[in-house]
Amino acid sequence: MGAKTDIKEAIESIVDPSNGQTLKDNHAIQFIDITEDHKVSLILGIHKVDEDTKKKLNRALAKVIKLDLGYQGLKITFEALKKQGSVVDEKREITYIGVASGKGGVGKSTVAANLAVALSRIGKKTAIIDADIYGSSIPNLLDLPVELPKADDDQKIIPFKAFDLEVIATEFFLKEDQPLMWRGPMLGKMLNHFFYDVKWADDTEYIIVDLPPGTGDVAMDIQKIIPKCEMVIVTTPHPSASNVAVKAGFAAKQLEHELLGVIENMTAFEAEGKTYAIFGEGGGKTVANKLDVEVLAEIPIQAPKAHKGIYEMHEELGVIYLGLANKIIKKLT
Ligand SMILES: Nc1ncnc2c1ncn2[C@@H]1O[C@H](COP(=O)(O)OP(=O)(O)OP(=O)(O)O)[C@@H](O)[C@H]1O
Ligand SMILES: [Mg+2]
Repeated sequence: MGAKTDIKEAIESIVDPSNGQTLKDNHAIQFIDITEDHKVSLILGIHKVDEDTKKKLNRALAKVIKLDLGYQGLKITFEALKKQGSVVDEKREITYIGVASGKGGVGKSTVAANLAVALSRIGKKTAIIDADIYGSSIPNLLDLPVELPKADDDQKIIPFKAFDLEVIATEFFLKEDQPLMWRGPMLGKMLNHFFYDVKWADDTEYIIVDLPPGTGDVAMDIQKIIPKCEMVIVTTPHPSASNVAVKAGFAAKQLEHELLGVIENMTAFEAEGKTYAIFGEGGGKTVANKLDVEVLAEIPIQAPKAHKGIYEMHEELGVIYLGLANKIIKKLT
C-alpha cells in the first residue's frame, strides 16, 4: 500500500499535455498495481486519447517510475477521461435577447448594437446576430466591412469581431443586388445557420438578435429555433411607432417569449438647456402598460461622438446603455 501511495505522489504533478492540467487535477490516476517482479501497472484517464499524448505521458511516467523510483517495468492503459466534472467541457448556457420593434426606423439596430457593447463592457461575453434581412445595418454600425465569413474545419462559420463582440449578419451572406422579394424565404434558412452553425466563443453568455421590423413571421421562426428567447421592444414616443410596437409585443407574448420590457428611443432632444419632444411623448409608457411590463430605458436623441453607431462609455447615452444592460442582467439572474 505504501509503495502505491509513493508512486501516486510521485506522478500526480505530471501534466496531461492534452489539456495542460496535472494528473492530480484531472483525477486521472484510476488504478495502480505492482507485480511480484517489480513492475508497475497503471490505468490513466487522459483528456484526449491520441498517440502524441500517450507518447509524452509514457516518457514522463517512465522517467519517474523506472529511473527515479527504480521499478523494472511499466505498463500503462489509457482511458478517455469522463466528461462529467471536467471544467473544460462545461458549457455555459447562452441567453438570447431579441430586439423587436414593429415599426422600422425607430432605432432598433442602434439599440441592439449598443446594448450588446454595454453588456460586453460590463464583462459579459456577448455576441450579436443581425437577422434583419431587409435592412441589415449592424455591420455598418460596428464599422465592419461586408464580406463572406470564413469557415473552420468542421464547416462552422467563424464570426467577425468588433467592439469586443462576435458578429454575424445576414448582409455577409447576401449578394448586393439580390431582390428584396427573394430575401424573405431565405431568412428561415439563414437563421437556422446563425443559431446552429456559428462557432461562437465557448464562454459566450449573451447573444443579441436584431430582428427585422414586423410583428409575426420572424418571431415565429425564432420561436422554432429558440423557444426561450427573451425580448425587448423598441419604440419611439410617437403613436405611429408605439401602436405597432404593442402588436409586436403581443405577438412575442403569444409565442411565449419572455418580454423583458420596453425601450423608448428618441425620447427627446436637448439643446441649450431646453428639451424638445420632437417625436411626441409617452409612447414607451403606453406600450409598457399595454404589455404589462416596465420601461427599461428612455434614450434621448443624440449622435455618437467618436464612432458611427456606438456611444463611448462616458457619453450620456453610453451611460444610459450601461444602466440598461445592468437592469437586463439583474432581471435575468
Ligand atoms: N437615440 C438616437 N439619437 C440619434 N439618432 C438615433 C438614435 N437612435 C437611432 N438613431 C438614428 O436613427 C436611424 C435609424 O436607426 P436604426 O437604423 O438603428 O433603426 P432601425 O429601427 O434598426 O431601422 P430599420 O427598420 O431600418 O432596421 C439611424 O440613422 C440612427 O443612427
Ligand atoms: Mg435596423
